Amino acid sequence: MPAPVPDDLAESFQPVVGTAVTLRPLRPDDVDIESAFVRGLSPDTRHNRLLGGTIAITREYLERLTSIDYSRDMALAATMMLEREILIGVARYVRDADGAEAEFAIVVADTWHGRGIGKRLLERLATIARKRGVRQLYGDVLAVNRPMLGLVTKLGFTLSRNPDDPALTRATLML
Ligand SMILES: CC(C)(COP(=O)(O)OP(=O)(O)OC[C@H]1O[C@@H](n2cnc3c(N)ncnc32)[C@H](O)[C@@H]1OP(=O)(O)O)[C@@H](O)C(=O)NCCC(=O)NCCS
Repeated sequence: MPAPVPDDLAESFQPVVGTAVTLRPLRPDDVDIESAFVRGLSPDTRHNRLLGGTIAITREYLERLTSIDYSRDMALAATMMLEREILIGVARYVRDADGAEAEFAIVVADTWHGRGIGKRLLERLATIARKRGVRQLYGDVLAVNRPMLGLVTKLGFTLSRNPDDPALTRATLML
C-alpha cells in the first residue's frame, strides 16, 4: 500500500500579478494536467530540465512522473485555476538509498517564467525536505543555464563543478 498523498502540505499564494497559485503535492490523478504541462514546454525549457537529454512523452512516463512514493520522495505542483486547474510548475526530490541526501529538479512553464514561481516552489521544497529529514539537497544544472544558476544562488545553494561532466554545475544546499 503506497503512502497517502500528503495533502496537508498544500498552500496558496498571490503572485505579483494575476491569479492565486497553489503549491500542493502532485497526485496520480494529475496525469492529464501533467501531460498538458510537459507537452507545452518549449524546446529550450525541456533541454534545460533534461540536462540536454531527450525523453519520449508516453503515458507510462507521465504515470511515473505523477506516482510518487511519498514515504521517501516529494513532488510539489504549482497550479492555477483558470477555466479549470492548470499545472504551471513542478519541483521534486528523490532520496538517495540512505535517505539523507536527495536530488532535486524543477521546471516552470515558459509563460510563467520570471514571476517568482520557481523561487517559491524551490523554497517550499527545501522546507519540506528539511522537515522530512533530508539533510542535503543537490542537483545538476547545465553550466550555461543562467536563470537556474541565478535562482539557486539566490536561495543559498553552493555551486561546484561536476567532476564527471564539465557541462554541468552541481548545486548543493545543506538543510
Ligand atoms: C529555472 C526556472 C525554474 C526559474 O523559474 P522562474 O519561476 O522563472 O524563476 P523566478 O521568477 O522564481 O526567479 C527567481 C530568481 O531566479 C533568478 N532568475 C530567474 N530568471 C532569470 C534569468 N532569466 N536570468 C538570470 N536569473 C534569473 C533570479 O535570481 C530570480 O530572482 P529575481 O527575480 O529576484 O532576480 C525556470 O526558468 C525553468 O523552468 N527553467 C527550465 C527548467 C530548468 O532549467 N530546470 C533546472 C534544471 S533541474
